[in-house]
Amino acid sequence: MIVITTPTGNIGHQVLDTVLAADRPVRVIARDPAKLPAGVRERVEVVQGSHGDAQVVARAFDSADAVFWLLPPDPRAASVDEAFAGFTRPAAEAMRSHGVKRVVDVSALGRDTPYAGKAGHVTGSLAMDDLIAGTGVAFRALAASGFMDNVLRQVRTIKEQGRFFDVISPDRELRVVATRDIAAVAARLLLDTTWTGREGVPLLGPENLSYNDMAAVISEVLGTSVQYEQVPGRALEEQLTGRGMSGAMVQSMLDMMTAKENGLDDAIVRTPQHATDTPTTFRQWCDYALKPAVQAA
Ligand SMILES: NC(=O)c1ccc[n+]([C@@H]2O[C@H](COP(=O)([O-])OP(=O)(O)OC[C@H]3O[C@@H](n4cnc5c(N)ncnc54)[C@H](OP(=O)(O)O)[C@@H]3O)[C@@H](O)[C@H]2O)c1
Repeated sequence: MIVITTPTGNIGHQVLDTVLAADRPVRVIARDPAKLPAGVRERVEVVQGSHGDAQVVARAFDSADAVFWLLPPDPRAASVDEAFAGFTRPAAEAMRSHGVKRVVDVSALGRDTPYAGKAGHVTGSLAMDDLIAGTGVAFRALAASGFMDNVLRQVRTIKEQGRFFDVISPDRELRVVATRDIAAVAARLLLDTTWTGREGVPLLGPENLSYNDMAAVISEVLGTSVQYEQVPGRALEEQLTGRGMSGAMVQSMLDMMTAKENGLDDAIVRTPQHATDTPTTFRQWCDYALKPAVQAA
């Protein structure tokens, strides 16, 4: 039995589709099963509730061979520790007590760097990984770089103003990965019953790109000029606070961005395997994801 959390989420639904295509028994944990497409609901066992709830995960992990674990964002959390390790603790306990064999989670780059301890959301992700690894389960932490899909949050600004924003320097090289590649790696690991031990799997995308590079690609694909604009941390702080994010999570986001600017994501040396594992280029992603989203906005 393969258990999939966040089956309605961006990565989770893509993992679910691939695992279902392989015709293996699947159980999903969903707060609102009605959000699952009807064709999917008929083919999976559903445990209703949140995967942060001890009773829910106890039911869901019964006789589970493999678990896909994704931490949902909690913008109102009182602390990063509560948002990441706190949410995961009941599941870690259930992984241990139910003898789950393998867990694949979505985490972040930055382990073993000088920034790991003060990188906000990333520090939280690494603590979550430690908690899961500490159960003794066979474990793969998918250490993802920034998602290309994050750009979709600014579709309207791109369409209406020809601009997109972040706090990172315009020429700073970044690693960016498409969520479809993360989902493909997760599904492959969930379907593979041979791996053991505990490892991180860095998912870097196929190329390094700065925001200025991305703006050039976006402009070409959309056929209209789009510029990247760096904004001060204070502007991001005001924007996130305005959306109702707690002070602790705003600070966590700012800490993460500072760590990324300083080199949090740079430690892993690229090999050809990274492009094989995560082949989608930013241009391809713009073609299949950004362009239709801009047209529909
Ligand atoms: N963005 C990045 O650049 C980046 C980089 C590295 C790692 N990450 C990690 O990637 C993850 C985000 O992945 P994603 O984009 O696939 O997420 P997403 O699309 O935002 O999906 C969130 C999922 O969580 C569910 N959910 C929300 N609140 C919940 C709660 N309280 N209890 C249970 N389920 C809840 C939602 O389901 P319903 O609302 O339908 O219940 C949905 O299925 C995060 O863990 C983040 O730390 C992100």
